[in-house]
Amino acid sequence: MKKYLVIGNPIEHSLSPKLHNYWFKINKIDAFYDKVKLDKIDLEVVISQIRKKEIFGINVTVPFKNAIISSLDKLTVEAESTQSVNTVYMKEGKIIGHNTDVEGFELAIKDKNFDFKNKNILILGAGGVVPSIIFALNKMEIGSITVSNRTKKNAENLNNFFSNLKIVNWGKVPNFDIVINATSLGLKKEDKIDLDFSHAGKDKFFFDIIYNPEETNFLKIGKNLGNITENGKRMFIYQAAASFKIWHGFEPKIDNSVIELLKK
Ligand code: ATR
Repeated sequence: MKKYLVIGNPIEHSLSPKLHNYWFKINKIDAFYDKVKLDKIDLEVVISQIRKKEIFGINVTVPFKNAIISSLDKLTVEAESTQSVNTVYMKEGKIIGHNTDVEGFELAIKDKNFDFKNKNILILGAGGVVPSIIFALNKMEIGSITVSNRTKKNAENLNNFFSNLKIVNWGKVPNFDIVINATSLGLKKEDKIDLDFSHAGKDKFFFDIIYNPEETNFLKIGKNLGNITENGKRMFIYQAAASFKIWHGFEPKIDNSVIELLKK
């Protein structure tokens, strides 16, 4: 039986095992996907287990998406450009790091059919997933990207990766067509973003990376103001499907039962 892992800290909340084990079952793949909480010092050990084929692939989540890089042999363009790895596998004896968050975001917004051309995008937050979102947006003909983060320095650090960002102070909401919540605010049901969106207008696109709870207060505000909203569930499923395809060579089916699976 082939073994796969998602590693992170904390890791209890991860729904990746549920998704991958479901796909193993319906595709009759003799494999098991587990979650493991570890410390930075353990990363080398996990990578050596991939070299020895004791583990066939890993997903990497917060806070190791960048820290894992020094243990790998090679990065894909997406991983290199974002300095962020969420999928690891061995190919021709080399340990490769890839980033499927980029594809996850691209496919999730494509489903929504919202036209991104020449649109002004506001990203809230500057954490682990933000470089992936910016990298994906930069492949599209968007208008502008503005980043607002509570700790401005963390937003400014994104300038090391990207040359087209406007950084603004946390607190004031500039005009936007698309707003993306990439902060962890909303993970707790009672969490409220202390930002005023009342001047946002209608027919904008509110996207939240968070999918549990399904509707954060940020999305509720967007919806109540007459805007289009989307949570992070599809992005999560698509990034998982992209990892699955790398490891198993085909795309797993994404249907209602997959979406339902994440509700339980
Ligand atoms: P990490 O960066 O450690 O991977 P993350 O969950 O990806 O963590 O990112 C958390 C994001 O949510 C950060 O942008 C963080 O802002 P800071 O850089 O100022 O820490 C943001 N965040 C967390 N709590 C917040 C709060 N109460 N108000 C505003 N932003 C918050």
